[in-house]
Amino acid sequence: MTTALFSETSPSLVKKYLPQNLFKSLEHNTTDSGFTLEKAIRSGIKNPDSSIGIYAGDAESYQVFSPVFDPIISEYHGFSKDQNHVSDFTTTNLPLIDPGGNYILSTRIRVARNLKSFCFPAHISLSDRKDLEGIIINALNSLKDDLAGRYLSLADIEKNEDRPAGIETLLFEKGDRFQDAAGINSDFPEGRGVFYSSDRQFIVWINEEDHLRIMSLETTSDLSSTYSRLCRALQTLGERLDFAHDKTYGYLTSCPTNLGTAMRAGVHIRLEKLDQKKEVLNRLAKDYHLQIRGTRGEKTKIEDSVFDISNAKRLGISETAIIRNLHKGLSAIIKAEKNL
Ligand code: ADP
Ligand code: ARG
Repeated sequence: MTTALFSETSPSLVKKYLPQNLFKSLEHNTTDSGFTLEKAIRSGIKNPDSSIGIYAGDAESYQVFSPVFDPIISEYHGFSKDQNHVSDFTTTNLPLIDPGGNYILSTRIRVARNLKSFCFPAHISLSDRKDLEGIIINALNSLKDDLAGRYLSLADIEKNEDRPAGIETLLFEKGDRFQDAAGINSDFPEGRGVFYSSDRQFIVWINEEDHLRIMSLETTSDLSSTYSRLCRALQTLGERLDFAHDKTYGYLTSCPTNLGTAMRAGVHIRLEKLDQKKEVLNRLAKDYHLQIRGTRGEKTKIEDSVFDISNAKRLGISETAIIRNLHKGLSAIIKAEKNL
């Protein structure tokens, strides 16, 4: 390539940390599965408004392309490679944040996981994706009691073969233009689907942005019970599936923003007063290291004063510490809302 890789105005971290000369020096490197840097940065090139702009095609991408991944990870997570990332799934017994149910509509905690022996969604073949789907379904079928559930393939749902009432809220759609440019939507919806428990509080998305998005969801403000359900599921699944994991970067994910715990713990919360005082809310979010997303997920807008507030940091912090910090931050936000 002779012209500039990225649009001059792009705010993305990949543009910041991948100058032309570094691209040249890594251009011919490939992982064992054949993933290249050109493929990793396609999304950032096609979408100049990306905030990050790079995806891993397999676990090895983080080593082979480390000169570009490392500074991006360091800036996004405030993490340096000489730090340790240590997991801790100790369950908690925290008081309800919103016992009257006046603000919090629901609590959701998800982690992303990928299997070590398969390419990640940006680079996996159709036949491997289908094999992987089968392996994951087998592991999910070993879950017991309240975690036991059923699997629905998105392809079957699309053909209208199986459409249980209210299922729409549990499904995922084709990925956005960022994921699309990365190759994550290949052959959609083949090899993808949703597993859900009969109370619908435990849900797993298969072959979305990562091989698994494992989530626990409640229409309460009970962070501890939502977290403990997730921990129980992870215990069983971790015994049956070999997750891609690195001692420095923790659980390895398609997007470097999810590395480490790969956890996003958050609530849907209605804040009518703070909606009028966004600067106060943004200040609190910053102080407690929280991220604010729109009502319908990432890059969507706030509807009816309902915010999605979750942890911003995922690497260099343990799972249990994320839950405790979130509890503190949300308690402070509710206090501020009440005082306005
Ligand atoms: P992810 O959390 O998987 O990175 P998104 O931000 O797109 O990605 O969220 C995925 C979906 O989960 C969206 O439809 C979003 O509205 C829903 N969601 C997120 N938080 C909550 C919550 N606390 N309660 C209910 N649904 C939620
Ligand atoms: N690739 C997109 C960007 O750079 C999204 C990054 C974070 N979100 C995600 N779902 N991985 O803006």
